[in-house]
Amino acid sequence: MNHGVERVACVGAGLVGQGWAALFALNGYAVVLEDLTEEKLDKAIGRVEAHMRFLAEAGLGGDVDAALGRIETTTSIAEAVAEADFVQESVYESYEVKKAVYAEMDEAAPADAILASSTSGLLMTEIQKAARRHPERCIVAHPWNPTHLVPLVELCPGELTSEETTRRTYALMEGIGKVPVVLRKEVPGFIANRLAAALWREALDLVDKEVASVEDVDRAVRAGPGIRWAIMGPYLTYHLGGGPGGIEYLMRHIGVKKAKWLETMAKWTVTPESAVEKAIRGVADMVGDKSLEELERWRDERLVELLRLLWLGR
Ligand SMILES: NC(=O)c1ccc[n+]([C@@H]2O[C@H](COP(=O)([O-])OP(=O)(O)OC[C@H]3O[C@@H](n4cnc5c(N)ncnc54)[C@H](O)[C@@H]3O)[C@@H](O)[C@H]2O)c1
Repeated sequence: MNHGVERVACVGAGLVGQGWAALFALNGYAVVLEDLTEEKLDKAIGRVEAHMRFLAEAGLGGDVDAALGRIETTTSIAEAVAEADFVQESVYESYEVKKAVYAEMDEAAPADAILASSTSGLLMTEIQKAARRHPERCIVAHPWNPTHLVPLVELCPGELTSEETTRRTYALMEGIGKVPVVLRKEVPGFIANRLAAALWREALDLVDKEVASVEDVDRAVRAGPGIRWAIMGPYLTYHLGGGPGGIEYLMRHIGVKKAKWLETMAKWTVTPESAVEKAIRGVADMVGDKSLEELERWRDERLVELLRLLWLGR
């Protein structure tokens, strides 16, 4: 489907905005990158260029210098969105901040420009109340970090979002190599962050209760479920775990239906301070003197290999 997008505005140039800008520019779009200060924008452009060079070196991008030439910067939201066909907002995760930004974008953007939010878990029904002129063109398009490498984008329409907005956003995202999923109902945290939060709570609790070290919890996930999850989700995984009876046998006779250990799992909704402290100490012990940059590079090189194996050209 033709999405009619040529010019993209990335509003908010932090970690996530930088990834989006790199992806859109490398895919041939004219990009305006916006943030609060020139200083932030200078830093952001350096990171955007580094992302694009990394993608190009990995054989996943085109001409980086041409892409850089397609990126403009501004500290004005109105200026950023004035001629945009698609806006990807990635400002702080707060209804107050996002609603102020949406009110401004809605006033200044062309009537048919889509206003997509990177929010990790806020609801579009609430955010779009601030877009009084055209709430129907507002949608959540939630990426996963690092945005320029992880394929998933979760599309979550609000109550007033039009089907056309969802369809055009889906087509645009597919066109830049993303793998979109569309929520049928709005829930905070969408699909993947809710699943991740369930695992994360238990991971924190296992360390807090001193069942295992931070290093062993990470190792167990990487070497066990994680290696399967890279190729299939929980449903297909358990279908294959049920033997000849597949998922039906697994659901009725084995698996978690009556597992007693479920009762012993974490149910808190505010992370205990002891778990916070043990997580911070445990990660510090695990990473030693490796810098965040080194760790990111190590992660991104492996992500590229996985992308090639699992998603590219398939
Ligand atoms: N960090 C992640 O792993 C991740 C993953 C997916 C989605 N998200 C979501 O993406 C959004 C951005 O997250 P981030 O990690 O990039 O945060 P960040 O703090 O790195 O970047 C946010 C940027 O927004 C800018 N900003 C804040 N208010 C603004 C305003 N009024 N106008 C213009 N710019 C403004 C800030 O100056 C900052 O540069 C959040 O909604 C977050 O939940 C984050």
